[in-house]
Amino acid sequence: MTLHTLFPTRIHSARLSGAANQLLNARLLRECRQLALDDVAGQRWSADNYPGGYTSYASVAHMQQMSPTFAQLQRRINTHVRRFAAELQFDLGDRVLAMTDCWVNVMPRGVTHSLHLHPLSVVSGTYYVRMPRGAPGLKFEDPRLDRYMGAPPRHPDARIENRQWVTLPAVAGQLLLFESWLRHEVPPNPVNGERISISFNYGWI
Ligand code: NI
Repeated sequence: MTLHTLFPTRIHSARLSGAANQLLNARLLRECRQLALDDVAGQRWSADNYPGGYTSYASVAHMQQMSPTFAQLQRRINTHVRRFAAELQFDLGDRVLAMTDCWVNVMPRGVTHSLHLHPLSVVSGTYYVRMPRGAPGLKFEDPRLDRYMGAPPRHPDARIENRQWVTLPAVAGQLLLFESWLRHEVPPNPVNGERISISFNYGWI
């Protein structure tokens, strides 16, 4: 017999390691913390929309154009987005995938970001600047969930490709890329220590 696997959901995971990337990460960490201290508009927006944490999503969302350090990260991510697009066999024609938004998230203990997707983008992702031990990574939802109707639930120990929700772990220096239609959430940070990440969108332009 043959069991076909069709319509897979791909998630690109990579570690930016090595001395140069560690140096880059240290500079990103400093700049993320400084932005969280300086960005009063973002602090106000976060107080209403991101309880307990800070995000520059609604205030400073083009970090790749504002900071040479973030521009350097963008170049690293570009390489991975190109590989991901090749793996997905996107036919981009004479257009390219380019970073359109890039923002900072600081999530102390207890802070969560509920299920969402990234409308109007093609590829989205997160780079993890700081991940305290025990902080979960990113939780993804099966995009077919609204069509399951009478389908039975899955065994708790089902293989990863058969689960309806999967949380991929992340560590500092890690990059996760996914297609922007894929719903995901950041589970609550259960440990003391800030989880600091940089999120971004790529558009087809
Ligand atoms: Ni997101």
